[in-house]
Amino acid sequence: MQKKILTIKNLNVTFSTPKGPFHAVKDINFSMGVEKIGVVGESGSGKSITSKSVLGLLRKPTLIEADEISFHDMDLRNLDNTQWRKIRGRKISMIMQDPHYSLNPIMSVGKQIMESYLTHHKVSKTEAKAKTLEMLELVRINNPERVFDAYPHEISGGMGQRIMIAMMLIPQPELLIADEPTSALDVSVQNQILSLINEMVTRRNMGLIFISHDLNLVSRFCDRVLIMYRGRIVDECPASELHASKHPYTQGLLNCVPSLDHKKKRLEVLNREKLRSFE
Ligand SMILES: Nc1ncnc2c1ncn2[C@@H]1O[C@H](COP(=O)(O)OP(=O)(O)OP(=O)(O)O)[C@@H](O)[C@H]1O
Ligand SMILES: [Mg+2]
Repeated sequence: MQKKILTIKNLNVTFSTPKGPFHAVKDINFSMGVEKIGVVGESGSGKSITSKSVLGLLRKPTLIEADEISFHDMDLRNLDNTQWRKIRGRKISMIMQDPHYSLNPIMSVGKQIMESYLTHHKVSKTEAKAKTLEMLELVRINNPERVFDAYPHEISGGMGQRIMIAMMLIPQPELLIADEPTSALDVSVQNQILSLINEMVTRRNMGLIFISHDLNLVSRFCDRVLIMYRGRIVDECPASELHASKHPYTQGLLNCVPSLDHKKKRLEVLNREKLRSFE
């Protein structure tokens, strides 16, 4: 039996909104080891909120209830800030969906990556800078020296994604949560970044939660896929069998993906009436 890195049992997240409580994530159960888990589902299905719950990023009055959220044997449900500082970044990292919101606007991107390394490793600044430049090259940034000194508003969306990836990979976490990490990248850079992440999974025993809207990419790149709908995991399958799933929601999502091989006159849209029983 593979060693578990992360276990989640009965996770529920409820937001308090002016219109009353909103139950965004419902009875989530899954566990994972050193593997690549893909999470798919349409916008608003709860993918990011589930991930943020794992990292303790949701604040009161949001209600996070779970029978278990554990990283190896460590209970993540009631950690204080000092305990979180040892986990976030070093043990579990998350590449956020929008890099420009997540980067500090008044610090050069190079310094931010360097800081991420220095927080968790006792090395000199010179060594940390060399490691940062090496990481920028690994995420295919041309001219790392120039980009090191750039500020977040001076870089493109795709560069921002790669900076975030560099920042999250540099401390060599044991679990990486990547929320749409390559959505702004062209296919060739995307493939290079994915093979870098893949190497971290296979060579450094990192677990990966890969959130994406790209079903073809997930079925090609991941080992297993969780399919979310309206806050629940409604289907789960080996990634290679995603296209053969019998679940009506998964089939509905797949039917909405355009294909070059099988041209359709009109793309299908999800039939929500048929899905009522999964809400
Ligand atoms: N702070 C908040 N207050 C109230 N509702 C929220 C809040 N943050 C998220 N939600 C709601 O929770 C639900 C799940 O959001 P989440 O961000 O997890 O979706 P997602 O699956 O990541 O979507 P996307 O693919 O668009 O990123 C959505 O309906 C969203 O509107
Ligand atoms: Mg999201």
